[in-house]
Amino acid sequence: MYENLYGQLQVLERKDAPLSQEERLRAANRPLLYWYGKYARKLPWRENKDPYRIWISEIMLQQTRVEAVKPYFQRFLKEFPDIPSLAAAEEDRLLKLWEGLGYYSRARNLQKCAKVLTEDYGGRMPADYKELLKLPGIGSYTAGAIASIAFSIPVPAVDGNVLRVVSRFTENREDMTKPAEKKKIEVLLTETMDRESPGDFNQALIEVGAIVCVPNGEPKCMVCPLASLCLVRRDNLWQEIPFKPPKRKRRMEQRTVFVVERKGKIAVRKRPPKGLLASLYELPNVEGKISEDRVSQVLEVQNDEILHMEVLPEAKHIFSHVEWDMTGYLVRLSETKKEDEKAWKDWIFVEKDELKGQYPLPNAFQAYRKFIK
Ligand code: ADE
Ligand code: SF4
Repeated sequence: MYENLYGQLQVLERKDAPLSQEERLRAANRPLLYWYGKYARKLPWRENKDPYRIWISEIMLQQTRVEAVKPYFQRFLKEFPDIPSLAAAEEDRLLKLWEGLGYYSRARNLQKCAKVLTEDYGGRMPADYKELLKLPGIGSYTAGAIASIAFSIPVPAVDGNVLRVVSRFTENREDMTKPAEKKKIEVLLTETMDRESPGDFNQALIEVGAIVCVPNGEPKCMVCPLASLCLVRRDNLWQEIPFKPPKRKRRMEQRTVFVVERKGKIAVRKRPPKGLLASLYELPNVEGKISEDRVSQVLEVQNDEILHMEVLPEAKHIFSHVEWDMTGYLVRLSETKKEDEKAWKDWIFVEKDELKGQYPLPNAFQAYRKFIK
């Protein structure tokens, strides 16, 4: 073992005695931990090993970048500092704190889990991998992260970053989006991972995947602690590994969004408790591209009730399985008509600052939000 120009520990592999997959991974433990000790980013959830903080951060970090998570994490912990406070949270308030992070089922599952922990686990996270796996919203990745980081249990935490790093390191051409392949990597890491500092080991692999063996573009092998042992670096195959299955096409959906103003208030409505953006609030919208002359019909108002109408720019929002191609209208309604009537039955007219403070409005409507003045 030696230290290279970049201060990385490196293991030399003898050409006449190539390493087995297990040996290669075991040999990576020391360089990886050494590198992590020196270069790990200082992140809010690395300040201590409180299982609650680890849990919240790991859930937020799924599908969301570190920089985006930081402010959410701080605000969330301030308002819900522990499991009981999260269990007792108002759903709207919880979703409001999640507003903009996306994948809102994560927030709902957090609360579901907090309730289970309060009722069945004495308000504490169990220090047991199998018990953690039984909890709502906690899969093998999150269970592994909590068990290893908070409780020093030697189990791996395999997310997309880790899959990329390990498949490159071992030159594995399998399709890592297949659960069976992920499972194989989990078994392999369970056997070979460092047993003294499993939390640091897992975070080191995640960290290499995030800042060295990056998801988009060329990996930074020059500064990688795994370089001397990495087969993809040796064979220059980073463009082929990890193998990417052909993408499934997203369904396209046309939608028309209405910014409806009446007596200075804005119309919102609560989405159904199941499905896309469940239980969040939204600006009234309908499927299809509605032309200007059909707006009053769609909103079920008379033409003379519309004081002002403005066509808003088109916007696009990409969800995991659908894409919304949106058109929008700003519609100011007159105050003369009877209140509590027909089309307004599932709308709530809210003050503009209530919308800021109280009603979680998902990012999909961001483009139209700025027309609420
Ligand atoms: N992504 C997922 N888990 C992470 C962690 N603990 N630190 C940094 N990035 C992460
Ligand atoms: Fe990725 Fe290069 Fe490091 Fe291999 S050496 S793990 S390809 S960054």
